[in-house]
Amino acid sequence: MWVGERTTIPPYRAAAGDGIRIIINRFMSITDNSRLTWPGRSDRPIQADPSMLVIARCEHHRVGQPSTTTRLIHGDNLCVLQRLVAERPKSVACIYIDPPFGIGTVFRTSHATGTRDTTTSDPIAYRDQWSGGIEGYLSFMHPRLILLRELLTSDGVIFVHCDWRANAHLRILMGEVFGPENFRNEILWRRAPNLGKQAASNQLGRTFESILLFSRNPGKALRGGHPEITTPYPLTRAGHPKGCFFDELRACWYTTAPRGDYTDDSIARLEADGRIHRSASGTVYIKYFLEQAADGCWVKRQRVDTLWDDSAVRPLRHRPKSEDMGYDTQKPEGLLERIVSWATLPGDTVLDAFNGSGTTITVASKLGRNAIGIDVGDASISITRRRLREIPNVEFTIDALHQVPEKACNSELQATFKSIGESTVQVDISGPNVQDVTAWGVGCDVNGVWECLWYSGILRSSEVAKSVELDISSDIAPDRLIVHVETQKNQTRLSVTPSPEMP
Ligand SMILES: C[S@@+](CC[C@H](N)C(=O)[O-])C[C@H]1O[C@@H](n2cnc3c(N)ncnc32)[C@H](O)[C@@H]1O
Repeated sequence: MWVGERTTIPPYRAAAGDGIRIIINRFMSITDNSRLTWPGRSDRPIQADPSMLVIARCEHHRVGQPSTTTRLIHGDNLCVLQRLVAERPKSVACIYIDPPFGIGTVFRTSHATGTRDTTTSDPIAYRDQWSGGIEGYLSFMHPRLILLRELLTSDGVIFVHCDWRANAHLRILMGEVFGPENFRNEILWRRAPNLGKQAASNQLGRTFESILLFSRNPGKALRGGHPEITTPYPLTRAGHPKGCFFDELRACWYTTAPRGDYTDDSIARLEADGRIHRSASGTVYIKYFLEQAADGCWVKRQRVDTLWDDSAVRPLRHRPKSEDMGYDTQKPEGLLERIVSWATLPGDTVLDAFNGSGTTITVASKLGRNAIGIDVGDASISITRRRLREIPNVEFTIDALHQVPEKACNSELQATFKSIGESTVQVDISGPNVQDVTAWGVGCDVNGVWECLWYSGILRSSEVAKSVELDISSDIAPDRLIVHVETQKNQTRLSVTPSPEMP
């Protein structure tokens, strides 16, 4: 049975995918009053499984003198979000999610091997496969969107990253969950140039992805101020911006554009403000002033519109190699910098419930925002841990819905310590498979939480040292140390034993 808004006028029915119908009333726009139905859609209140709702703190890391905190939570976001809604409703200023797109494929990570591109022998990062196709995908997204709405502050906003496969479905579903009046924008982000397979395919190159933006309530501007881009202006030989005019009064260069649809009243206001340029024949143009950057260059400042293809948000392949975590579907930091700076102020909280390689929470931490990341995948947690540790000032915790499993992986690995001074110990890891270690850290157990003292891992293709000298305070007995070791396939915790030459 299809459920929809019914009037005496028969509704239009538009097929949107196998088994999916959008029912739209005649004379109503798609965002005014429409509802997406699909086999398996459930409108029952979300039922928590209490046994899953224990979030245990597992790790604590602190580097430098941070003023904000970041929380990484390992587990299925449906359960974690239910807990967060109970703990801290209406507390998040900005949510960005980049969920699976409904592609039907498996994504991998080459992080541990340090190579840039993934191969089929690399560990699985996550599966984007749905029983029941798009219907299964929508049944997955629907309850999560409802929970995310409950976390937003009254002026909070949510960005949902998707592509041509599900953007139409998600936009209608989000209209229903957040209210059609709260739709703000569909941003088009260029993910690739129109080259190669894309350009040669039977349809136009699918080179853009969508980011749907809804707010919790209508109207208000986003908290961080409108994003802008500045473009350097080419100079003439004499060092003046090419094709520009000089305004004597303001001592500034400007470009011009036709008056377009400005009314006579607006032109009069602009004239009074010194913003009108008249050509020799008397045609009216609007002046756009350039600005001089700190390095002396003349730049044009423009407000960003919904087409995001400028250099600040270029895809990962055009970013510094050090940013590439080898995680399929990783997004560039520039994209998240724009979103986080636009939607929030320092001290606000940003949440990403599909954390992946941790781009959102890394950027949010660097920009002085509190951040929460959630992911169900082991690879996501270990990559994000290493990424966060690289930030000069950061405090973060890793929590889990269940304790990170102490997998019996590499039982032949062992950690030993040697005292080499009053408060200095040398910790070594050894064993036949020690070359498989991709990251390790030394910490101690504080009430069941692994308090990190030191951590090191491969951040794109460096060797991990197998020995470290640590200054540890006198209240930590060396035999309380616990070493956390990750290999490409799994992670484990080792109790540290004194080395044989210890008395
Ligand atoms: C497209 S990736 C996110 C990539 C991320 N934006 C980045 O820049 O690296 C989607 C992530 O969602 C995670 N995920 C999928 N289902 C999930 C669930 N039920 N709970 C938590 N995380 C989930 C996957 O493990 C994957 O890491």
